[in-house]
Formats: sequence, structure tokens, C-alpha cells
Amino acid sequence: MDVASTSPTHPLPPLPYAQDALEPVISRRTVEFHYSRHHRGYVDTLNKLIAGTSLAHASLEEIVLHATRAPRQDTLFNNAAQAWNHAFYWRSLRPDGGGIPPAALLQQLETDFGGFDRFKQALAAAAVGRFGSGWAWLVLEGGKLKVVQTSNADTPIVHNQTPLLTIDVWEHAYYLDHQNRRADYVREVIDRLLNWEFAMANLERRP
Ligand code: FE2
Repeated sequence: MDVASTSPTHPLPPLPYAQDALEPVISRRTVEFHYSRHHRGYVDTLNKLIAGTSLAHASLEEIVLHATRAPRQDTLFNNAAQAWNHAFYWRSLRPDGGGIPPAALLQQLETDFGGFDRFKQALAAAAVGRFGSGWAWLVLEGGKLKVVQTSNADTPIVHNQTPLLTIDVWEHAYYLDHQNRRADYVREVIDRLLNWEFAMANLERRP
């Protein structure tokens, strides 16, 4: 049996830490559902959608961009973008995260937002204020750091923005732990889990 031919084109990326590593902010149970069911579901559906098509060997980024071109393919976009967004989300968090970013990033945040606390307030406001399902992001656009929201599966990579960090604000990201208190989840994620080294690496890798 040819193992390679039966492997999914896009495997579910491994979690970068144990499922209980984000406790007490995000419980093991939430990570288990979010990663093993939601994230895996997007990846599995994506692989079914592209099997046997011209996209079977395309990168995830190429598929996301392809799906936005006419004729727009909403189901393909939603699953590919959510696969991309979730892989990025897990890496945006880390146990014992939060705190102060590396100096170069801190300086740019202070310049572009008028202070680190003002940046944190802007990110929290975007995350809490996103009506319904979506994401809050720190992105680089035109050489400036910005906070943006996206709705449902939408992603900055189709808007000429370079994402540095994201917070998932779909209810499945926090409801088991914080019920309707999205603001509590967001504040704790910002203060205790954001992976500033990942953000710095994304800033240094920008095109
Ligand atoms: Fe999610």
C-alpha cells in the first residue's frame, strides 16, 4: 500500500503544547474540543474538497487566495481559511505568555498605538466588540501595526495584511470556560497567553 497516496494533503498541524497547557485561562476540555473537533473538522473538509482537483497539491495559503477569486468558492474558502486561522491561533498562544513584547516590537507598538496599554485596549476592544463569530488580529499593513477584526472565517492574508497574532472569538473558543463573558477570556488571553516571540518572528519574516 502506498502510504503517501493515502495521507491527507493537509495534515492537522500538531498542537505546540499539551492540551492542558493553557489552563486555567483555557481548559483542557476547551482545547480538546476546539482542536480535535473544530480545527480537525475544517482540515478534514478541506481535504475532501480539494481531493482530485487542481488544488490537490496547492499550499493552504494558495487555496485560501484561490477561493476568493471569481467565481468565489465560499465553502472552500471557509474551510481553508479556518484551517489557516486555527493553526495561526494555536501558535499565537503559549503557556506563561503575555507580558511585555521583545524590545523592537514593543517600540513599534508604542509608536503606532501611542503606548503599549493603548494597544492592549485596542486589541481587547476589537475582540470583545466583534459582533458574532470572528477573530481579532494584530497585523502589519503598509509598514504600520494595526488591530483589525474579521468576521467568521475571514482572514487578513486575503487583505494584503501580514498577521502577527490572533485571538479566536468564536464561542467555541471560550464558552465552556467563560460562558458569555467574552471580555474575561480576552483579557486573560492578552495578559497571560499571547506569544510575543511568535509575533516578533512574524514581524521579522514579513515580505
Ligand atoms: Fe475556533
